[in-house]
Amino acid sequence: MSLTGLAPFPAARHRRLRRSSQIRDLVQENTLTVKDMIWPVFIRDGEGIEEPVASMPGVIRRSVDKIVEAAREGADLGIPVICLFPYTDPALKTKGCEEAWNPDNLTNRATRAIRDAGIDIAIMSDVALDPYNIDGHDGFVCDGKILNDETVAALVKQALSQAEAGVDIIGPSDMMDGRIGALRQALEAEGHQDVTLMSYSAKYASGFYGPFRDAVGASGNLKGNKSTYQMNPANTDEALRMIARDLSEGADMVMVKPGMPYLDICRRVKDQFAAPTFAYQVSGEYAMIQAAVQNGWLDGQKVMMESLMCFKRAGCDGILTYFAPEAARLLQEL
Ligand code: PBG
Repeated sequence: MSLTGLAPFPAARHRRLRRSSQIRDLVQENTLTVKDMIWPVFIRDGEGIEEPVASMPGVIRRSVDKIVEAAREGADLGIPVICLFPYTDPALKTKGCEEAWNPDNLTNRATRAIRDAGIDIAIMSDVALDPYNIDGHDGFVCDGKILNDETVAALVKQALSQAEAGVDIIGPSDMMDGRIGALRQALEAEGHQDVTLMSYSAKYASGFYGPFRDAVGASGNLKGNKSTYQMNPANTDEALRMIARDLSEGADMVMVKPGMPYLDICRRVKDQFAAPTFAYQVSGEYAMIQAAVQNGWLDGQKVMMESLMCFKRAGCDGILTYFAPEAARLLQEL
């Protein structure tokens, strides 16, 4: 964009466009609405349980009945999508991760419960083995290595069980090679041609996932790190290759993760591919803001909205955010 047509002062007084709220509204370039938000929630077993996640103030793990209530709350607020993550009973974690494709695991039970209640909200699920893996990794571990192709075969079973339960969007967060193609092929073959894939395409090996691993109970299990499958935070071009690859294999939507530290990636992805692009404002970003707010160091509502708007500015179509219900309530009041 050329700025050579800019008039000199005083022909141009840029503050003219900022002098009143009406004029500021008129020239506002980006907007954030409730329709831009996907709400990630954590499921646990039991009944009537709402249990706080210590490292994510304001976030709770809910039993399936309470997840149904949350879905209803989300729908009433106008949030279009709820995204389910399970906190799996440690006794159900194995090397073979069989619980991942159990038709009656927490995610599948919650999906059916939301569907049976007739709630008007789309359901997104997570495809990766970490909540079920005794090794805490997203894939099978053998002699300290993360197996790719064997993991992809398991992810297909997991995704099909979720499609069977009735999810609308499947989000593979595992970063194995070839999984989008394998998932798409299996969904087509099994009559789930309308299930969408939102690929965690550019997912970085980030330090910002710590509180999430507490929330799903994977922190204690994880040995080592995820650098052999998640991306190096120093890379940009590689993200574009991952997006191109996933779109070519049948992803309907793509994601950049984490969010705020990777806004440059969001912008490049949107400009290059013009595909539906999402960012995940991850647990550590949420925790950072909440910790500062709890200390009285930041204005919670102001930084929440500013942190969400930056994704729209960077070209994202939507944001996965733990702030979704709070931001939706605030947007209703405005
Ligand atoms: C794992 C997964 C992670 C998140 C979503 N899915 C963490 C990880 O890769 O270790 C992170 C979400 C967050 O931090 O909010 N499949």
